[in-house]
Amino acid sequence: MASVPFDQLEGEIWYNDEFVPWKDAKLHVLSHGLHYASSVFEGERAYGGVIFKLREHTERLHKSAELLGFEIPYSIEEIDEACNELLKRQGFEDAYVRPIAWRGSEMMGVSAQHNRINLAIAIWQWPSYFKPEERLKGIRLDMATYRRPDPATIPCESKAAGLYMICTLSKHEAESKGYADALMLDWRGQVAEATGANVFFVKDGVIHTPTPDCFLDGITRRTVIELARKRGYEVVERAIMPEEMQGFEECFLTGTAAEVTPVSEIGEYRFSVGEITTNLVNDYAQAVQPVREAAE
Ligand SMILES: Cc1ncc(COP(=O)(O)O)c(C=O)c1O
Repeated sequence: MASVPFDQLEGEIWYNDEFVPWKDAKLHVLSHGLHYASSVFEGERAYGGVIFKLREHTERLHKSAELLGFEIPYSIEEIDEACNELLKRQGFEDAYVRPIAWRGSEMMGVSAQHNRINLAIAIWQWPSYFKPEERLKGIRLDMATYRRPDPATIPCESKAAGLYMICTLSKHEAESKGYADALMLDWRGQVAEATGANVFFVKDGVIHTPTPDCFLDGITRRTVIELARKRGYEVVERAIMPEEMQGFEECFLTGTAAEVTPVSEIGEYRFSVGEITTNLVNDYAQAVQPVREAAE
């Protein structure tokens, strides 16, 4: 657990096209984003000084904002450049990158037609999302109480702050019972995802993962599907009912923060950290490394 609060870290934050001292990157309490969750963000990781799939993340950030009805006043190229420049200024090789856009404080109420759209980018060091000692053995997941909502009720493809309310509730409940995370079902009762990562299962050498029709189709998820197919594994995207977990042999999560994390337990179901999971943990670790010129 970090002992220094996040608003007291060192360095700079890119804030509306300026680099400001970390501790001065503030916003007013009457910000629309805070009251009405008009906020979208990204989570990215840099490896060896290069942000993995930066362009895809920035494109998703723009799309997330569009789905919430606002336009980020910086182009995709400008945001990519700001992320890269900030990474250099922060001096990190391996780091977590968090761009966030939100409606400001010009109007206060549900309507916010004239509010400024703000954008900030922060970069800090965040080695492992789950405890490293638990990660290798496979983490333990609780079954969440809340479900991912019907896409007819929310813009589910947006990485919108408001959609994380259920995730925080579920993660807190799981942690209070000694679990690392929680698996959420969707509104139909099908397996959906963990609170900050997508989920995969293995049975008889075949990989199964839920169709992302009401939750984030993670960039890591898509990367891992590609890596799995490159190895010749069959990957099936389909509706998965929770009872099916009884017959699954392996399970793992994927996400920018979580990377590929083996799972040993979900509620009453048990999994082993098998060959397919281990191979994909390693393939992903390899894939995120920047390609170096073969000089040595
Ligand atoms: C709820 C949720 N699902 C899935 C993911 C995985 O997305 P990605 O692989 O793009 O990081 C994340 C992480 O951002 C997430 O927060």
